[in-house]
Amino acid sequence: MTYDFQIVPRIIFGEGALGELGVQAKKFGEKVLLVIDPAILKAGLHESILKPLQKENLHVSTFSDIEPEPWVEIADEAARMAKEEKVSCVIGVGGGSAMDVAKAASILVTNAGKASDYQGLDLVKKPGLAKIMVPTTAGTGSEVTFTAVLSRKEPKMKAGINSHYLFPEVAILDPSLSVALPPKTTATTGMDALTHAIEAYTSYQASPLSDTVAREGIKLIAANLRTAVRQGKNLDARSNMLLGSLFGGIALANAGVGAVHALAYPLGGSFRIPHGVANGLLLPYVMKFNVKKCVDKYADIGGLLGEKVSGVSPAHLAEKAISEVTKLSEDIAIPRKLSELGIDEKNFPEMADAAMKVSRPLENNPRKVSKEDAISIYRTAY
Ligand SMILES: [Fe+2]
Repeated sequence: MTYDFQIVPRIIFGEGALGELGVQAKKFGEKVLLVIDPAILKAGLHESILKPLQKENLHVSTFSDIEPEPWVEIADEAARMAKEEKVSCVIGVGGGSAMDVAKAASILVTNAGKASDYQGLDLVKKPGLAKIMVPTTAGTGSEVTFTAVLSRKEPKMKAGINSHYLFPEVAILDPSLSVALPPKTTATTGMDALTHAIEAYTSYQASPLSDTVAREGIKLIAANLRTAVRQGKNLDARSNMLLGSLFGGIALANAGVGAVHALAYPLGGSFRIPHGVANGLLLPYVMKFNVKKCVDKYADIGGLLGEKVSGVSPAHLAEKAISEVTKLSEDIAIPRKLSELGIDEKNFPEMADAAMKVSRPLENNPRKVSKEDAISIYRTAY
């Protein structure tokens, strides 16, 4: 087997890393587009983001018309602004939504057409503008992936632009930016990060290289997520979560994700359920479905989640991994049932049809998932 492992060229991590933003952006030119989550502006963090840019005398245009599960048209809008302002670099600040809009906008400046033209694999023809990503949640890992996930109204769905041209040039991770994140968002984005690490670890595309980062991600997230949710100002927990989600992102960029993500897509696309909620809810149910096909790796996950390893059979430890993931999600108040989200059972066949179209994650999944399997997983999760 040969391994192909890609990583963004520069990752700057640590408290105060944000101070590097201006110096890094200036390498690409004098004008930047700042694509920023409005929640960051509301939290009063705008000044601290602008400061390092102003210090380098950069001309900054701000685009903050971002919403959760953003529509393709929002990326088109951001790209229009980048073109009008003739910027040379797009900076994405926020969670996955802001970063994905920024990444998509960067390639839409140099490639004709609309964001919806490029949803799929390797449809982007030319490199885009330089991209610097600054995550403020410990979740999507979008700062180190080649994907931008955007929603469409017709047909109602979510789909990714997947292209190596979307790999950011620089990722700046400063845990002090995530301190203000509310407990609920900390919980849901944290479960997304855990899902990345677990699904990448058990993916058919996993390699010793991606496994190393995935395992480290699982360990860090499991040990720090509860504290980050309960004590938001705990900088150690925030820092470990940000590192854990970075590892999850690197693992997913190389090994892909699995059936949790495929089955979660219709929840976001049709019902606008936040990505982290959908993944966090489905993760234990899909693990139950998968367990027989990946006993050893789930057993290892059991150990990484803090379960006693010696004298315990792999099968037992694998089951423990699932119950520990369930317990973690309960402890941080992730919804446990689809019925709690107001989704009716009658939608399951349609949701399963939509999930079946998310082919790459399904191919990576350790157990083959049929439409009937998908419906039955939704039923168990109901
Ligand atoms: Fe995800």
